[in-house]
Amino acid sequence: MNEEEVLAALRRVVDPDLGKDIVTLGWVSDLKVDGGAVSFTLKLTTPACPFQQDLVRQSKEVLEAMGASRVQVNVVYDVPRTTPADNLATHKIRNIIAVGSGKGGVGKSTVAVNLAVALAMTGARVGLLDADIYGASVPLMIGANTPPEVAGENLLKPTEVAGIKVMSVGLLVPPGTPIIWRGALVTKAIQEFIANVDWGELDYMIVDLPPGTGDAPLTVAQNLKLTGAIIVTTPQRASLEVALKTLTMFRKLEVPIIGIVENMSYLVCPHCGREIDVFGKGSVETVARHMQVPFLGSIPIDPRLREAEDNGELLVDFQDSPAAKALMDIARRVASKVSLLAYSRKKEEGEEGGGLSAFLPMPPKR
Ligand SMILES: Nc1ncnc2c1ncn2[C@@H]1O[C@H](COP(=O)(O)OP(=O)(O)O)[C@@H](O)[C@H]1O
Ligand SMILES: [Mg+2]
Repeated sequence: MNEEEVLAALRRVVDPDLGKDIVTLGWVSDLKVDGGAVSFTLKLTTPACPFQQDLVRQSKEVLEAMGASRVQVNVVYDVPRTTPADNLATHKIRNIIAVGSGKGGVGKSTVAVNLAVALAMTGARVGLLDADIYGASVPLMIGANTPPEVAGENLLKPTEVAGIKVMSVGLLVPPGTPIIWRGALVTKAIQEFIANVDWGELDYMIVDLPPGTGDAPLTVAQNLKLTGAIIVTTPQRASLEVALKTLTMFRKLEVPIIGIVENMSYLVCPHCGREIDVFGKGSVETVARHMQVPFLGSIPIDPRLREAEDNGELLVDFQDSPAAKALMDIARRVASKVSLLAYSRKKEEGEEGGGLSAFLPMPPKR
């Protein structure tokens, strides 16, 4: 076997999202062929890649089929950026994902916090910005209680929990203190959270928004070049109809919609194990199809999740619960959609990596 033959074989290993093979995508490097022993580096676009195991297994299969006795695949990651490289405040943050909803209490913070934790568990560098100034709940949910350190003049170092860099107004005031501010101050606080916080290098920043289409979501959408937004809703009409208004706001602001999540989708009866449809399971997926936005998954009502969040326990601690599994799947789906967005942007800019078979729905150009 020589290198050319090995590369030709690896061209049969195709990334399902991008519809291209790993050699064409430029993901194979450091190829060494020594008799029957083959080793190479496989560079993926995210450590949360849902196809990682499949790609490694397929690579081994095609090479073993042509006679390789030992195949070693060294997997590394390089998360592509969707944020502008020339923005001083955010140039080290590769992707910024906002989590919004129409109504409160539908699970935005739950999705935002657990998305951050799930991505960090895979090895990504993650930041979590709580833009819900009046209803900051990130510190409680993630179990953060030390205030950010002062890192220099006008610069704060975010509090770190489980490797995640967290910033929230809840970390700056004593517990129980209400924030009684007018909108202009909310806007200013969010701007400072971006400009005056030493976030460092991040693969993903997750922004937890307050409900609706007010000052905070608007500031986030206008001050940050967002990778995209995730909309969280419960399935009943009262929640879904208002969620769609938030979705429309993001579209108007030319923020791509990464997808919609159905939370509190159903309840599994702890006695008989049967699914109880509390709010009308499935309606969000139907609406997502109608609105031509990706459906990212449904999270069941799970008392274990609520309990964990009230106690600041992390997803890692209850990985076997149904809600935790759903949240992990959603995180992988989000990561792969973000990679797709990065590729489609590169293609728009005429850089390499284009020619994709699938694109995320982008807001219409004006
Ligand atoms: N799938 C779920 N199962 C059980 N409890 C949930 C679920 N989703 C959210 N919760 C709980 O519901 C409450 C509201 O969720 P939260 O994420 O704070 O909503 P939001 O940020 O949209 O206001 C929290 O106490 C949270 O723990
Ligand atoms: Mg919240």
